[in-house]
Amino acid sequence: MDISKHLNSAELDTLSKQPLYLQIALLIADKIHKQILLSGTKLPPERELADLFAVSRTTAINAYRKLEQQGLVWTKGGSGTYVAQEHDVESQSEVPWPQLFTSYPQNPSASILRDMLSTPAPGTISLAAGMPDPALYPLKTFTELFNRNIGRAAPSDFGHIAIEGYNPLRRAIAAMLSEKGIPVSTENILTLSGSQQGLYLLSKVLLEPGDYVVMEAPTFIGAIQVFQAARAKILSLPCSGKLSFELLEDFIIRYRPKLLYMIPTYQNPTGRVMPAQERHDLIKLAKRHRLVIVEDDPYSDLCYGELPPQSLKALDSYGGVVYLGTFSKILFPGLRTGYLVGPPVLINRLALEKQFIDLHSNNIAQWLVTMFLNEGMLAEHLTTVRREYKKRRDMMAKALQRLCANDIEFNVPEGGFYFWCKLKQAGTSQRLLQEAAKNRISFVPGEAFHTVPTLDKEFRLCFTSHNEAVLLEGVKRLAKTLTQRTKKNKDNDVPPCSVWPII
Ligand SMILES: Cc1ncc(COP(=O)(O)O)c(C=O)c1O
Repeated sequence: MDISKHLNSAELDTLSKQPLYLQIALLIADKIHKQILLSGTKLPPERELADLFAVSRTTAINAYRKLEQQGLVWTKGGSGTYVAQEHDVESQSEVPWPQLFTSYPQNPSASILRDMLSTPAPGTISLAAGMPDPALYPLKTFTELFNRNIGRAAPSDFGHIAIEGYNPLRRAIAAMLSEKGIPVSTENILTLSGSQQGLYLLSKVLLEPGDYVVMEAPTFIGAIQVFQAARAKILSLPCSGKLSFELLEDFIIRYRPKLLYMIPTYQNPTGRVMPAQERHDLIKLAKRHRLVIVEDDPYSDLCYGELPPQSLKALDSYGGVVYLGTFSKILFPGLRTGYLVGPPVLINRLALEKQFIDLHSNNIAQWLVTMFLNEGMLAEHLTTVRREYKKRRDMMAKALQRLCANDIEFNVPEGGFYFWCKLKQAGTSQRLLQEAAKNRISFVPGEAFHTVPTLDKEFRLCFTSHNEAVLLEGVKRLAKTLTQRTKKNKDNDVPPCSVWPII
């Protein structure tokens, strides 16, 4: 049966307040109840569903998840999504897994990180995921280090190690940070399976439901999701332009937040660098109120001009700055190796929590990174990637200026991975993304970086994960999409999803 004729965008109301994914789920549910879609019918794959309804793949995925939660469809790994066998005794005797799950934030952006990490549709240029270019991963050096050293490695290094991490790596990180003006010793360091794990651990040991957390707006999706999952209440501090100390102090006095989460250098997604004076003033204010600052710093080594100001941790005179670092952006993300710097009392408490998750992070990755650092290879690698990413940034800035400047504004970032763009024309970046999918180009719409629904015109483009030729083609496709939109000159954007929890 050709079921696509039962599923199409004509039945959606793009002006309705009801989110599109819910409209699609309701529409399919209705057809299942009316037995237009019969038990066992194979439904279109997510991408096809997205095309049929002219929505993003995330929206299609969320629609299927909703139906799955209701037990109306089920997904067979590797095969597809099917209408559930309502009257099938076999399936009724199966464990109703979704009913057993603990609650999960019903946020349509909850799957954005997961989607960004999944392979894009064939032929699509994804400027969405914030990744280094795989062609620049130092894999040859890692192979050489492995081959040269595996024979003399102590077997015990590959058994269980301390939860706090592989000691030689903790020492190497302490030495690296001391050179950057962050004087720390081994006992201040917890190695992590990526700095994302550090955010999770911090939320576990510091946050109770209802606690307040101050975050820049917009900010890193992974941090938003972790703090929302901890049921923290988020206070947003706008991060375009000058930081509002009045607003921050007001938050501190009125709400006594447990922590302030910040990315002071090459902020994700805006690329903003917090000026030196602001950093000093922030530390002064935080010290006065004994406010914990979580400084997330994955990008500061990736500067393409002047060096950024010293990190907040380097200025920390009250022991309140917790620093997160990672090798994901400067080496490669599959290492899953990051670290957290804090006072020993915090490191001990975090280690207790970490044992519940993974006992300790992967030894082989830690052993390899240790050798990479101890043999002085990081400096050379950074020189290579900085040179290459600077070229890409400059090329892409020129291309955006030449091809898209009538329709978007953007800042040229001094470091990091991202262009933060703003649509000048009518409509939201979410709608632009839906249209861009037809031209096989993707990016992250701005609303993903906010904790509350926004009718957002901003969007993020990553300029590091592809070579110059692919980036140029990506900009051309974006320009084509923008021109098509201008021609259509229509402003029927989708309102933000009303089910986002406003916490
Ligand atoms: C600001 C920020 N923090 C943390 C992370 C997560 O990094 P990791 O791969 O170390 O978990 C990212 C990745 O995009 C990021 O942009």
